[in-house]
Amino acid sequence: MAAKTVYVVTGTNRGIGLGLVTELVKRKDALVFATARNPDKADALHALAKEHDNLEIVKLETTSEAESQAAAALVKEKAGRVDYLIANAGIANLIAPILDTPVQKLREHFEVNTVGTQLTFQAFAPLLFASPSPHFVVVSTTVGSIGMKLPLAMTAYGASKAALNFLTAQVAVEHGDQNNLAAYAISPGLVGTDLGNQAVAHFGMAEAPVKLEQSVAGVLGIVDKATRESTGGRFWDYTGDELQW
Ligand SMILES: NC(=O)c1ccc[n+]([C@@H]2O[C@H](COP(=O)([O-])OP(=O)(O)OC[C@H]3O[C@@H](n4cnc5c(N)ncnc54)[C@H](OP(=O)(O)O)[C@@H]3O)[C@@H](O)[C@H]2O)c1
Repeated sequence: MAAKTVYVVTGTNRGIGLGLVTELVKRKDALVFATARNPDKADALHALAKEHDNLEIVKLETTSEAESQAAAALVKEKAGRVDYLIANAGIANLIAPILDTPVQKLREHFEVNTVGTQLTFQAFAPLLFASPSPHFVVVSTTVGSIGMKLPLAMTAYGASKAALNFLTAQVAVEHGDQNNLAAYAISPGLVGTDLGNQAVAHFGMAEAPVKLEQSVAGVLGIVDKATRESTGGRFWDYTGDELQW
């Protein structure tokens, strides 16, 4: 069993995932497993790994059950448990109202954002249950909130993240008490990543309102203070405000 705090972060080749890993590896007591679909092309991660010996790059296409199981097996061998599973991998590649949303786009967003994250949870669940105080942290979005009724034509993305929010709440119900698991969703804000910049351009903004560093600091600020009782089963903004599911 690793003496350090064990983090697994998915989708870390770029964007918010890379930002999270860049901060986490600065912590001397952290052991960070950063997943990428194509480790051979993950240049920024390799550059980080050269400077930080507490970073391991793991291959993971999250829609693959076989790769999810293989990634979990590798982490089990090296660390024996996971304290924080941060499910960050996601896509948003269509901004369109429902009548202009091809059903294939709906399927594609569900496959990555919803199915992929469930596969990640299922593969890593035994390792989370081996931690005395595990966290399942889902990087979600206000676009997936039903209660907020945002007038954004992001049908496929929003629907897939609403379903992902349900899965997060379901994990909290099923494994909160039983496994002392804190499961919660966090919206990182609109950040100028490849994904975020599509929305920025579409909605005619000059730039994304939230800087990457600001978002990462906000997300990790919530994660660091989170407990099952105070945080689990709920949906949070990176600012620390609670959001409506
Ligand atoms: N940016 C925003 O404004 C914003 C706002 C709200 C929520 N979010 C959420 O934040 C998360 C990260 O988004 P981002 O802005 O950092 O996006 P991004 O820059 O487009 O990065 C997405 C990451 O997810 C990975 N990924 C995509 N599909 C994957 C799959 N099937 N298996 C494994 N990895 C996969 C990508 O891998 P490759 O590099 O190999 O493609 C990439 O590393 C997403 O869940 C997104 O919904 C972002």
